[in-house]
Amino acid sequence: MSNLIDRLSPEARNAPESGIVEVFNAGWGRDDLIPLWAGEGDLPTPDFICQAARDSLGRGETFYTYQRGIPQLREALAGYHEDLYGRAFSPERFFVTGSGMQSIQLAVQAVSSAGKEVIVPTPAWPNISAAVEIHGARAVSVPMREEDTGWRLHVEDIEAAITPRTTALFLNSPCNPTGWVASEDLLKDILSLARKHGLWIIADEIYALFYYAEARRAPSFYDVAAEDDQIVFVNSMSKNWAMTGWRIGWISAPAKLGQVFENLIQYSTSGVPSFSQWAAVAALRDGGDFVQQQISRARIGRDTVTDGLKRLNRVRILPPEGAFYLFFKIDGVTDTRQFALDLVRETGVGLAPGTAFGPGGQSYLRLCYARRKDHLEEAVRRIGSWLSSI
Ligand SMILES: Cc1ncc(COP(=O)(O)O)c(C=O)c1O
Repeated sequence: MSNLIDRLSPEARNAPESGIVEVFNAGWGRDDLIPLWAGEGDLPTPDFICQAARDSLGRGETFYTYQRGIPQLREALAGYHEDLYGRAFSPERFFVTGSGMQSIQLAVQAVSSAGKEVIVPTPAWPNISAAVEIHGARAVSVPMREEDTGWRLHVEDIEAAITPRTTALFLNSPCNPTGWVASEDLLKDILSLARKHGLWIIADEIYALFYYAEARRAPSFYDVAAEDDQIVFVNSMSKNWAMTGWRIGWISAPAKLGQVFENLIQYSTSGVPSFSQWAAVAALRDGGDFVQQQISRARIGRDTVTDGLKRLNRVRILPPEGAFYLFFKIDGVTDTRQFALDLVRETGVGLAPGTAFGPGGQSYLRLCYARRKDHLEEAVRRIGSWLSSI
């Protein structure tokens, strides 16, 4: 067996096991499980979205389809962006993919290559660096700084990490796992830096609507960039519309890159099923109320776990400004991987260990609060009683 593995490519052989999946595998299937480890809520996809998929299958749409995405979905994406960012968007900017994860893979394929470097501020969702490294490039972590008021990303730290091999930097805001949100000024500064060094930006704004300040959405590179800036936006239907299991997302990039993204899609998945695309059209056109409901639930979830964990008096929390995760520290807990494995075994509460999120995150735990309030209260109660017993 080891011989077979030795014969694999180093990129495949060295791909790390996701630290989140390790805990998930340890606890999955328990009857009393409260799964707060993964990045998804507990609501199923609304029926009007499922119905659009059933209708598509009923029409016999079971064949290959447009590589860039069906025109109706690309138009719906343009409309969604126009409404959210208050300006015109051409459908030609949008490329439908098989998930946010695949959008990341294709973006990385487009802007880096073997031996090149992509800068990734950490703590970060582990799949980002893994996607870079599987592609043969190197993910260069730039740890964010923990300050009393929250996480901070310093542009000079990014600049110090740039080498002649750097081709891109990845920015995820609102951030999974920290809940940090980049200000518009910071986005401007990062864009200037990228322009100065001729770098690409991969902008992951998939949690843009999960923003807890008094605004409809988080600041975006769309607010500060020109149409043809070197930015590839990666996005997903997963979070806003409770569609994690559908595996559908999109890329937004200068329309000039259309042929390139068409090719990358052709040579990876060869397109996204028509029925999922029609479901996405329904979500984008008619899903506004549902998204609002999701955001209100997340806001309640955020307050519930923040207040509950604070009462335990052993927990350090920086209130998240966006996304739907609490990234917190428990006094006395140093090995968060072992803690998460023990916690799920002893209490049935599934958390993600900070060790999964790269430099800077090791001593934290991540909890997804996009769930029913009573489940979150119960999770906090179990964490509290277990902590008092160890
Ligand atoms: C920051 C970030 N980007 C991208 C994704 C990918 O989402 P999906 O592949 O479900 O569309 C996730 C999922 O958790 C995420 O947290």
